[in-house]
Amino acid sequence: MADFRDTLMLPFSSGALEGPKPGEKWCILNADVLPLPDRMEPDDFVAEQGFRPGFLALEAAGYAVQPRLQAMSELNCCLVLAHRSRAVNERNILRAWNGLKPGGVLVFAGTKTSGVQPMRKWVGRGAQVDGSLSKHHAVAFWVHRSGDDWHADRLQKPDSDFEWGKFRVAPGMFSADEPDVGSALLAEHFSDRIFGRVADFGAGWGYLSSCLIERCSRIEQLELFEADWASLEAARSNVQAAGDMSVDYHWCDMNREAPRTPFNWVVMNPPFHTSRAAEPALGNRFIEAAARCLPAGGRLLMVANTNLPYERTLQHLFKKVERLDQANGFKVLEAVKGSR
Ligand SMILES: C[S@@+](CC[C@H](N)C(=O)[O-])C[C@H]1O[C@@H](n2cnc3c(N)ncnc32)[C@H](O)[C@@H]1O
Repeated sequence: MADFRDTLMLPFSSGALEGPKPGEKWCILNADVLPLPDRMEPDDFVAEQGFRPGFLALEAAGYAVQPRLQAMSELNCCLVLAHRSRAVNERNILRAWNGLKPGGVLVFAGTKTSGVQPMRKWVGRGAQVDGSLSKHHAVAFWVHRSGDDWHADRLQKPDSDFEWGKFRVAPGMFSADEPDVGSALLAEHFSDRIFGRVADFGAGWGYLSSCLIERCSRIEQLELFEADWASLEAARSNVQAAGDMSVDYHWCDMNREAPRTPFNWVVMNPPFHTSRAAEPALGNRFIEAAARCLPAGGRLLMVANTNLPYERTLQHLFKKVERLDQANGFKVLEAVKGSR
């Protein structure tokens, strides 16, 4: 079914904008595999995608993809796909504008519910919007670069808003404004009984891991697994190893690259949606991954919204399952692996 990626291609397939010519520099931010029209190929682009499942899909489709593009300059065109976070969209548009050569074109596209119109207004305050097309419940608009670089003072939320307390956090990450209530409830159950080799699945910017280090002195090795590259980079500075403990960081898609090495404990607040609706299947995949890397006697300690039905999967894969706590719409579950 056609979606906003088709809308993004419309200016090119309709002839409103020209496609890439030999030697030109084109890039895509918040990239996704695109339904490219004739005469456009994946290798015309350098793509940025920090979410590992999307990164792997782009790589498989033949795009040159990086989790974060460092050098963006002298671009002829930059395509920006809407992110769910307005702050991320503003930052990507600002980077795209500053990376374009004079006359280069920036095309932004998103579904009508993604906040594309407010972004169009925001861009229109600094540049003339040269065109716009609407189809498939989505909008694509474009501007040609003229004039000076745009500076961070254009951003609605200044960058410094996102460094609070002792943690470095950035827009677009899970719980970017304060620690998640569910994660805080889970962390209340961290104590010295958690020991040895410990994994944090879907570690985000490192809240649970830093609580583990603070509260569990018998951990020897702590391993963080996270799909969002920027969150994992933040975790590298937020999670400081204590004493002889070693800490490792893995940028991975738990659905395809989950660890096989044994752990004594796994802790997690698993993802529960990619869209607005809750998707228990995501958490179930995390539970299955935990079951695979816990030997007999190994334990999983997790938090979830009370309405998410994880108990059935847990009972199927573990010997003993217990609800340790429940508050503010969250439940803390502990499961012990049997010998099978
Ligand atoms: C509910 S958040 C918990 C974050 C962090 N542990 C905390 O408590 O604040 C779930 C995390 O899982 C990550 N995630 C989502 N899908 C993933 C996948 N396929 N593989 C690895 N991590 C994933 C998300 O980026 C997010 O950081």
